[in-house]
This record gives sequence, structure tokens and C-alpha cells, in this order.
Amino acid sequence: MESAPAETRVAATPKTVGQLITLGYEVVVEEGAGAKASYPDSEYVAAGAVIVGRAVVWAADVVAKINSPITAELDAMREGATLIAMVEAPRSPDFLDDVAKRGLTVLAMDSVPRISRAQSLDVLSSMANIGGYRAVIEAAHEFGSFFTGQVTAAGKVPPAKVFISGAGVAGLAAIGTANSLGAVVSATDIRPEVAEQVESMGATFVGVKVDEEQTSSDGYAKEASAAYAQAAQVMYAEQAKVSDIIITTALIPGKPAPRLLTEDMVASMKPGSVIVDMAAGSGGNVAGSVADKMVVTTGGVKIIGYTDLAGRLPTQASQLYATNIVNLLKLLTPDKDGVLTLDMSDVVQRAMTVVGNGEVMYPPPEVAVSASPPAPAAAAVLTAKEKTKLNPVALGAGLALCVLALLAVFWKSPDVLLGHFMVFMLSVVIGYYVIGNVNHSLHTPLMSVTNAISGIIVVGALIGLSTVHVVPVIAVLSITGILLASINIFGGFLVTQRMLKMFRKA
Ligand code: NAI
Repeated sequence: MESAPAETRVAATPKTVGQLITLGYEVVVEEGAGAKASYPDSEYVAAGAVIVGRAVVWAADVVAKINSPITAELDAMREGATLIAMVEAPRSPDFLDDVAKRGLTVLAMDSVPRISRAQSLDVLSSMANIGGYRAVIEAAHEFGSFFTGQVTAAGKVPPAKVFISGAGVAGLAAIGTANSLGAVVSATDIRPEVAEQVESMGATFVGVKVDEEQTSSDGYAKEASAAYAQAAQVMYAEQAKVSDIIITTALIPGKPAPRLLTEDMVASMKPGSVIVDMAAGSGGNVAGSVADKMVVTTGGVKIIGYTDLAGRLPTQASQLYATNIVNLLKLLTPDKDGVLTLDMSDVVQRAMTVVGNGEVMYPPPEVAVSASPPAPAAAAVLTAKEKTKLNPVALGAGLALCVLALLAVFWKSPDVLLGHFMVFMLSVVIGYYVIGNVNHSLHTPLMSVTNAISGIIVVGALIGLSTVHVVPVIAVLSITGILLASINIFGGFLVTQRMLKMFRKA
């Protein structure tokens, strides 16, 4: 059971107990550990765990929990045992020294590198995802109006304007949630490379106009320059004036949270506006935010600084955290024999091992990863260009050959063929322009163009049918043409309607 009184989460759920058993482990769960997350002891027993007292749990070979243990808990651990928890290694040098002296191994769940292979173990991502969702729910709870715009008999209600700063995991989750509640969402980030992700979640990206680029090499942001900070202040001042809700999630790992909103900006917001400062626990992005409290300014703006947003959805948060632990143990127990083995040549395991067999191993070597696309190698670009460039001599020779072939055909053919050929060439040119100028009202430009071609086929077939002495073969061909082209035309509209339905809100 977690010793922090406000902690609602638990590091194993009945579902993950079953998964741990299949990895060859015997699982003991402390009595009442899952009660606050709605996981009663009986469910753990049904899943195969043994419910035990505190002393037995702490004497286990591997102890999994949410937060750093207190001294009394460490005292109860056996030498050589492994602790799996969020230990905030950068901020806890004394703790790391202490556990090293005790001969323990510590796997820090909050030190998982942000690389795609390690995503299934990344508790910071899974908790930030829940936190971002809950931040919007907290804001909606405190906000005095609808999120979505409505037209009612009593008048028109505009949608709420939500601005999100920091489009990392929490920020993107907040964008998705606010968007699904019907708000008009915009977001910013110091890393311009995330603009596409922001837009794909249905929000508008608000950039900061400054002549420098911030790209990350490890999935996290670097500190802002003075020029960026100055330009950002102008942007935040503008956003504060027009936003109903601001959610700040800006974070630079290992640094105090960057201060984004000043007192003046908060004061410029409308009364009843809500700010959720997700970084309140690490110094705060917003002037006046207080960790774990909601502050109401004299101007009537509510600033929420809760640091337990993920814990406010304890059932879901526990399930995700516990699944992250199962995924870690899958990696560390390849033979499914209940024997935990660490491989220090694996960057993920190395990064998480902050203390190994009594030795402090933090910080680990840097792991490079970035959301920005890697710059293409100059040589590769050159080769591609060279490949697409046509040789002008070959092109000229090809054209000359075509002209000669045509002249040879017309030399021996009747005059009427030349006339038909001219009409055909003119029709191709006119048809190209007619079809090219059709408005793209179908789902894709290609569908619009093929429908336009089908339209021209129908026109041609109708002209064929309307001649006075229509030959039976031409009649059959025309009717078949009209039939096939109509299938394409009506089918195109039908498919477009279906596609549009998928994107429309119910
Ligand atoms: P993340 O690293 O994925 O995202 C942070 C984002 O902030 C990055 O995209 C980064 O580029 C951006 N950023 C950094 N400096 C900036 C600046 N000056 N201006 C604009 N953007 C800037 O982090 P994640 O996992 O999304 O967490 C976000 C924050 O939420 C962290 O402070 C974390 O501790 C906190 N958090 C709080 C919870 C709570 O209960 N209050 C729960 C979970 C997370």
C-alpha cells in the first residue's frame, strides 16, 4: 500500500497479477492496497495473488510501487532486492546514495527513455495522458459555461476557447479532450516540429515568431532563448485576452517549469476563466498557481494547481501503471521463469537502472531520439534529382522518332484519317481543360476528375444516340457507355457522402 496518504493508485491490478504469474512470478499483494482504486482484495485473490501484511510485502525479491519508499519501508527490504517505482532520480541524489548503500537495485519507472521501443513501459506518458484528460475535465467542472457552442431557443452560445501550452503527451491529450467536448482549441509549443501533431488533433497551432528553431534530440524540449521568451510573451498576452480556458503543460526535464503566464496576463483574462497549471508541482508555468490548490484571483480567474490529476482517475491510472510494470517485467524475464535479469547493453534497461547492486548508476548515457524528421543526406538528394532529370538528347531523339512515325502513317493513309486525327487532337486539348476546371466537390480530386471524364463520356454517347440513322452497333456501344459512366458518377457521390459521414460529429 502507498504510504503517501493522498496516493490513490496501486502498482498492480487483478488483471496484471494474472500476467505476472504467467511470467513465472509468485505475487503477494499488501492487504487493502487496491481499495482506493476500486480493486478489492478478493479480486486479487481470484487472480492468483496472496494477500499479506506489510512486512511480508517489503521482504519480497522484487517490490513494485508508485512513489519512492519511506525509510521504514527501505529498512524492511532485503539486500540484493529490486525496487520498481517512480523515484524522481534527478531530484533525489540523497535517496540514490541511501539505497545504493543498502545494496539494492532500483529501476526508475520515471526514467524510461522516450523511444518508440520503450513506449509500453513509459509511465510518464501514460500518467501525463490521463493528467491531460483530467485537466480538461477539472477546467470544465469549474468553468461556468458550455464547452460546445449551441443554438438554443433562448439564444446562441459560443463555444469555449481553450488554449494549451506545451504539446507533449499531456498537452495532446488535453487538446483531444477539449476538442471532443466541442471547444475551439489552439495550442503552442517551443518545438515547431509538433505543429502537425497539434493540427491532426483538431487544434490550431499558434507559433512564436522568432528566427531560431527548437528541435529536440531526446524527445524533450531544451530551454528557451531570451529572444524566444520575449516573442512568446507577446503571444501569451494575446492568447490570455481571448481564451476562456488555458492549460499549461510546458516542461523541460530536470529544470524548474518555465514561467509562461505573468500576473498581468492572468489579470487580463475574463472573470470566470479557468487556468490549469499542470506544472504546478515543479514550480508552475503560471504566476500565482499553488501546488495542490485552486486559487481564485481578485479578477475572478480560477488557477488550478492540482498535482494528482492522474490519481483523480485511480482505476484507470492504476491499470496503465501496472501494465507498464508488466511490460517491464516481460522485458526482464525473457524465459518466463520468474527470474529477473538485467541487460546493461540495452539502452532502456540501462536508463531505468538508477542504482544497480549497490552502485549509483544515474545519470545514464544520453539516448538520442526526436520527433523531427532527420535531415536527408545531401548525397541522397543529389542522386534522386539526377535520377528524375531527363537526358535532353534522348528526349529530342524520342520526339523526332514519334513525328517521323506519324508522317509515315499519314503518307500512305486516306485524307479523311488526317481530318479525324486533327479533331481527335483538338478534343484531347479541349477535354483536358474542361475536365481540369471541374470543381473538386467529391472526396478526392481524383474522384472529381474521373467523374468529369464519365460526364463527357455520357455527353458523347448521347450525341451518338441522337444521330438520325443510328447504326445498331453504335447504339449498343453508346448505351453501354452511358450505363458504365453513370455507375461511376453516382457511385462517386455515394462514396463521398459515406466518407463525409465518418468525419461529421453525431
Ligand atoms: P512532455 O515533455 O511530453 O511535454 C512538455 C511539452 O512542453 C513539450 O512538448 C515541450 O516542447 C513543451 N515546452 C517546454 N518548454 C516550453 C515553453 N517554454 N513554451 C512552450 N512549450 C514548452 O511532458 P508531459 O509528459 O506532457 O508532461 C507535461 C507536464 O505535466 C509536466 O510538467 C508533468 O510533470 C505534468 N504532469 C502533471 C500532472 C498533474 O497531476 N498535475 C500529471 C501528469 C503530468
